[in-house]
Amino acid sequence: MSQTPASPAVETATAIAQAHGNRPDALLEMLHEIQHRLGFIPEAVIPALAQALNRSRAEVFGVVSFYHDFRRQPAGRHVVRVCRAEACQARGGRETEAALQQHLRLKTGETAPDGSVTLEAVYCLGLCAIGPAVMVDGKLHARAEGKRLATLLTEVAS
Ligand code: FES
Repeated sequence: MSQTPASPAVETATAIAQAHGNRPDALLEMLHEIQHRLGFIPEAVIPALAQALNRSRAEVFGVVSFYHDFRRQPAGRHVVRVCRAEACQARGGRETEAALQQHLRLKTGETAPDGSVTLEAVYCLGLCAIGPAVMVDGKLHARAEGKRLATLLTEVAS
């Protein structure tokens, strides 16, 4: 009886798990590597990792869903990340997030249907004293409010 061939994502995940000796304590590193290579954590990877690490699917899924860094869908061409941690919240982070949602017509965590942009929450970008902080395609922006935010929104739309 022939087996169904594994998907490229499952092959990637299995190879990464093997490179870490299939050690359950290396699950986070494995997930980061998978996301780095594939851009997100595909659903099919979860049972493959569970089997490789001799853990339950629920355990692996729990780790993937607990950490906000892990994407379960491919990201858009542009990724906008808004800080939701305390210092930024105290400096107007909620208003910045609301403005981003309105401008992009997305809820936080969503990707535009045309795949142009993803809006994500993060919990500290290291700019706590000069928030609210936003990251656009890996570039940090401090004091993302008022005119500064308006300029940023124009750039995101272009
Ligand atoms: S709290 Fe937002 S950058 Fe640290």
